[in-house]
Amino acid sequence: MANVVVIGSQWGDEGKGKIVDWLSERADVVVRFQGGHNAGHTLVIDGVSYKLSLLPSGVVRPGKLAIIGNGVVLDPHALVAEIDRLAGQGVEVTPRSLRIAENVSLILSLHRELDAFRESSNAGTRIGTTKRGIGPAYEDKVGRRAIRLMDLADLSTLKDKIERLLAHHNPLRRGLGVAEVDPAAIYEELASVADKVLPYMDIVWRILDGARREGKRILFEGAQGALLDIDHGTYPFVTSSNTVAGQAATGAGVGPGTLDYVLGITKAYTTRVGEGPFPTEQQNAVGDFLGTRGHEFGTVTGRKRRCGWFDAVLVRQTVRTGGINGIALTKLDVLDGLEEIKICVGYRLDGREIDYLPAAQAAQARVEPIYQTVEGWRETTAGARSWADLPAQAIKYVRLVEELIGAPVALLSTSPERDDTILVEDPFQD
Ligand code: GDP
Ligand code: IMO
Ligand code: MG
Repeated sequence: MANVVVIGSQWGDEGKGKIVDWLSERADVVVRFQGGHNAGHTLVIDGVSYKLSLLPSGVVRPGKLAIIGNGVVLDPHALVAEIDRLAGQGVEVTPRSLRIAENVSLILSLHRELDAFRESSNAGTRIGTTKRGIGPAYEDKVGRRAIRLMDLADLSTLKDKIERLLAHHNPLRRGLGVAEVDPAAIYEELASVADKVLPYMDIVWRILDGARREGKRILFEGAQGALLDIDHGTYPFVTSSNTVAGQAATGAGVGPGTLDYVLGITKAYTTRVGEGPFPTEQQNAVGDFLGTRGHEFGTVTGRKRRCGWFDAVLVRQTVRTGGINGIALTKLDVLDGLEEIKICVGYRLDGREIDYLPAAQAAQARVEPIYQTVEGWRETTAGARSWADLPAQAIKYVRLVEELIGAPVALLSTSPERDDTILVEDPFQD
């Protein structure tokens, strides 16, 4: 039985939530394996919009098991708030439908504060983070001083763990000129939420191993995108986790052989939120057109997303670093009505032509896109549910994208609605 990993192939917001929700009909288990509530995944079902940040997009389908894996950083208060918000929309999340890895690292208020402080200070690089505390929480995880979910189950040892954590944070805060943290306040922050989150705690690697042995289908839901990957992205303008498909294995506690098919969610143009290089960015009428038609405002922070043409160089690279077998091409409808469409097919760097994104920050900032211009289409693709409904020029555009990136289109999305999706090749098929 095939298991599928969904990852973003660009800078996030490619439409992962919509595709994961659509695919989850065919899956038994849906697992988040990295990131945290910096993610904002939007699903639209019969006109009703659901916004998920921490919860896997499978939670809205009754009967599916949702899992938050060890690779995620979990803000327990944000989790409770999200579960309450969904309950208000009629989606019930219970310990029967959601399990969380006992070894997941927690995001605390001090992580959020540090994230916000760094972003607002002039020292260091402004990344344009979501200020959710993601980076500082991963730093503590790697620094071996994180508080983990299981620590809430043993309040007698929690105080020692908090002391250890603050032995790092308080000197740091002193140096930054920020008020020190009182260990009692952190204890209270955690103890007050323990009863609400502990019922969801479980041994996730064992659940997934059991599911695999029973031939159940597992869908791994990535957050962010391959260009925000801490290793393969546009460092330092990245998030603090690995976002490529390999992370699905370590972030959930399964072997790499469990990952059968990697679906890269790919927007028909490019967007980015926050700072950092963006070779095909259009700070002009084209960018405004894409932003307005595509409603390109962040789900999490409401920030305006930067917009530009499709960059085939970048996606060709993330097809390789991400291990992508096929893509889901989304938001094709946003290009409807454009007279001509540009696709970046190469870069010029210091007078030389190159076919990849160099790793150095300065070089990334200097590359200039080389465009191929293709004819647009006047007809609408919005809401199309079969190839037959697509104008010939739109099909040509899709074929060109496939050829340039070196991966086939497995799914095509033509609106935010769940069912406005065209299946070309089933990722779950063995
Ligand atoms: P994610 O972070 O990858 O899950 O993507 P977001 O939900 O942050 O952003 C994608 C936005 O595009 C959401 O508002 C979706 O409802 C919307 N969307 C997804 N697919 C399509 C599509 O094919 N066409 C249009 N017009 N909107 C889409
Ligand atoms: P989804 O899952 C788009 C960006 C932030 C910032 C950088 C680091 O919805 O696609 P962080 O808070 O993670 O330390 O911020 O990463 N970023 C995203 N951009 N979509 C996301 O998630 C993102 N999550 C983080 O804007 O540039
Ligand atoms: Mg998003």
